[in-house]
Amino acid sequence: MTGNQYLLFFLLFFLSFAACSDVEDEIILKPNGKAANSAELSAGSSTVFMSGINAYDTPAPWVTGDLNARFLRGDALYDNPRTSDQSDPLQGGLGPLYAGFSCGSCHNNAGRTYPSLFASGGSGRGFSSHLVYITRQNGSFFRNYGRVLHDQSIVGVQAEGKLAASFTEETFSFPDGEKYSLQTPHYKITEWYADSVAPEDLIIDVHIPLRHVGMGQIMALDHDELRRLAAQSNYPEYGISGRLSIISERNRQYVGTGGNKAHHADLTVELGFSSDLGVTNDRYPLEVCEGQSQNLGYSHYGIQITTREMEDVDLYMSALGVPARRNVNNQAVKRGEENFFRARCQLCHATTLHTRQDAPVLLNGTRLPWLANQTIHPYSDFLLHDMGKGLDNHVRTGSAYSYEWRTTPLWGIGLQAKVNGHTRFLHDGRARNLVEAIMWHDGEGAVSRELFRRMSKQERDDLIIFLNSL
Ligand code: HEC
Ligand code: HEC
Repeated sequence: MTGNQYLLFFLLFFLSFAACSDVEDEIILKPNGKAANSAELSAGSSTVFMSGINAYDTPAPWVTGDLNARFLRGDALYDNPRTSDQSDPLQGGLGPLYAGFSCGSCHNNAGRTYPSLFASGGSGRGFSSHLVYITRQNGSFFRNYGRVLHDQSIVGVQAEGKLAASFTEETFSFPDGEKYSLQTPHYKITEWYADSVAPEDLIIDVHIPLRHVGMGQIMALDHDELRRLAAQSNYPEYGISGRLSIISERNRQYVGTGGNKAHHADLTVELGFSSDLGVTNDRYPLEVCEGQSQNLGYSHYGIQITTREMEDVDLYMSALGVPARRNVNNQAVKRGEENFFRARCQLCHATTLHTRQDAPVLLNGTRLPWLANQTIHPYSDFLLHDMGKGLDNHVRTGSAYSYEWRTTPLWGIGLQAKVNGHTRFLHDGRARNLVEAIMWHDGEGAVSRELFRRMSKQERDDLIIFLNSL
């Protein structure tokens, strides 16, 4: 054989080897007994074939026996409404200041509870599922307030303030004449418990909850693959350049993949219990009101949830199954998928990624080997992108500039209406449907948005039908 023939021989040898290992992939059966195809398997062996209200809230098929018992316990700790009984270790410890009364109060069915602020005009009249971040113009916090405005409180205590929301609306047309309108939110805070804050010094940043779809996989992502995406897959011809989020915490550097600003390297269980619910723990032993002028002396009740219990919550979120795609062979879905690629959505909403070789480790040391080494279809690159002026929230969060956002993973997005009964999208829920969510894309997303805008009505409709199959 000549040198070139050798090369060809080895190339073929490697190719056939690669093809073989593909064929040897585990075959996963659907409930109807047929083998699932790879497009349907959103998260490899963690895929669940569910399309109803529990589609986000079902354990992955490998959750059995002991693990299942812990999953169920974590689920209960996550969902059970907490009370202000400061000495009840299982369901007490709420407040005195809080934002929600359980994780599930905001992440109902492991999704996005409808943020009632859209209907009620704010949190003045009761509970809504959003988080309100407040910052001074210079980026620092206000005396007497932390980063999160706790707009709920237990009986006898005054909430830090209440959020009032209003909207302005503008109507636009697609080239074919179909109309769409975009609502811009405006916020105010009333009923400050202490120093009232000059509006000109105040930045209010409101977020609605994220879906928990694929949290375990997101924490197990192969960071080298993301690094390669950030380094190589910049697309100057489309004005796209994603950036990996590196966060410094406790003198170490982490890759951030969680949260709308990719500012979390873990599932924020300790932070969530402390800051969102007012439940103290080893990492955050003091009540959030401690040190503020409303010092209520509640911290003497001590730790209200143990790290072991919190690990069960971590396990619950990490072991949730990811819903399989539906109707993958439907003609409109297939056309819509082509349109998704034609609009270059996949340059940020990356269709296929992989999890690391090593199993992710939970809060208290438990390993989940099932999450390692999987091919997944999250429809995100987990990088930060400049999304333009309209979505700019005027605050820097972690390593993200105010105009940068993490590409939201789209897996499971088509089931949000079923699971949570609404179609509010984007970090603050301003988009009332998928079309509005796309039309808010600007900055690095402008080319995609324009490609979508110029499509025919049929092409746009098909693209939306495709999104609803995710
Ligand atoms: C008051 C409502 C509220 C409560 C209560 C709440 N969350 Fe959240 N959660 C949110 C919002 C809003 C976000 C989105 C934050 C952002 O923009 O990054 C979020 C984001 C998250 C994320 C990141 C999701 C992702 O896709 O990256 C995790 C994980 C999470 N929450 C877990 C919890 C846990 C665990 C609890 C209970 C201990 C909890 N949350 C309680 C509102 C809430
Ligand atoms: C430059 C990168 C980029 C491109 C290109 C892009 N997106 Fe996005 N997309 C994002 C980011 C970042 C967000 C989060 C923005 C926010 O929440 O404010 C997002 C959010 C979304 C959401 C809302 C998700 C949710 O659950 O709230 C949808 C739907 C969406 N994109 C669809 C698309 C479609 C369809 C296309 C192609 C027409 C597209 N995107 C192109 C980066 C991109």
